[in-house]
Amino acid sequence: MYQIIDGKSTAAEIRAEIATEVEKMKERGSRVPHLAAILVGNDGGSETYVSHKVKDCEEVGFRSTLIRLPASVTSEELFERVKEMNSNPEIDGLIVQLPLPEHISEHRVIEAIAPEKDVDGFHPVNVGRMAAGLPTLVSATPAGIMELLKRYKIPLRGAECVVVGRSNIVGRPVSILLSQKGADATVTVVHSRTGNIEKIIKRADIIVAAIGSPGFITAEMVKEGAVVIDVGTTRMPAPETKSGWRLKGDVDFENVAPKCSWITPVPGGVGPMTRVSLLLNTLKACNR
Ligand code: GUN
Repeated sequence: MYQIIDGKSTAAEIRAEIATEVEKMKERGSRVPHLAAILVGNDGGSETYVSHKVKDCEEVGFRSTLIRLPASVTSEELFERVKEMNSNPEIDGLIVQLPLPEHISEHRVIEAIAPEKDVDGFHPVNVGRMAAGLPTLVSATPAGIMELLKRYKIPLRGAECVVVGRSNIVGRPVSILLSQKGADATVTVVHSRTGNIEKIIKRADIIVAAIGSPGFITAEMVKEGAVVIDVGTTRMPAPETKSGWRLKGDVDFENVAPKCSWITPVPGGVGPMTRVSLLLNTLKACNR
């Protein structure tokens, strides 16, 4: 019988730990952590993500500032706002929600954020420090996955991990973290150009699925007893729900779960851990 890796309750535990820490900061007379988010345009997904981030800040006692800019904003105007936030000593963490409109270069915006305030961990300085095994702000989803594996005591040393997907946000960084000293897993990264992908995934003790292709991982690809971490969050039309959509992971949960030792659900697995990791990074940026 498989067991659920419950990201929702784990994240709630961590939020409670953070809230306690914030109370102590207040008692000491310290300033509380402050996260600033820049939202450009009206992308539906981005609106939801940013509103969650603001709500999470409130719950743990952080300050938050949301800056909304129109989709027509120029790169220069956006850079100006980023610079302002970089030099504002009252702001600890700054995120610019992605995706950005076509006319703005995402990587130039990311590079404009001060690395010590880059709580998304997307700046090349932070990515480089992470890859070198130096203390840094690690991006939220990879950090959340590592925290889940740790809290659930999933053995990593020598385990065969297959990471499905090579994105800058999840696949690439999580593959680096899993193979690092201390984690000590043996890691294979597979992607859209990999031949024989099913056979490679079938070897895995631990599968991290981060491709954004709903239901891609089927039961035939999964070894008996594997641990499955599902990072997918594709919005599927669902007329029966209030919002009109529901999230579907990269794993065919119904058929895969019975083969697993542990598996994360969608929703309620990696997603809540991503959100709480952003709070942890903001706390860390504040304590620097
Ligand atoms: N868009 C999708 N995920 C993320 C994220 O983690 N951070 C930012 N800034 N934008 C995103």
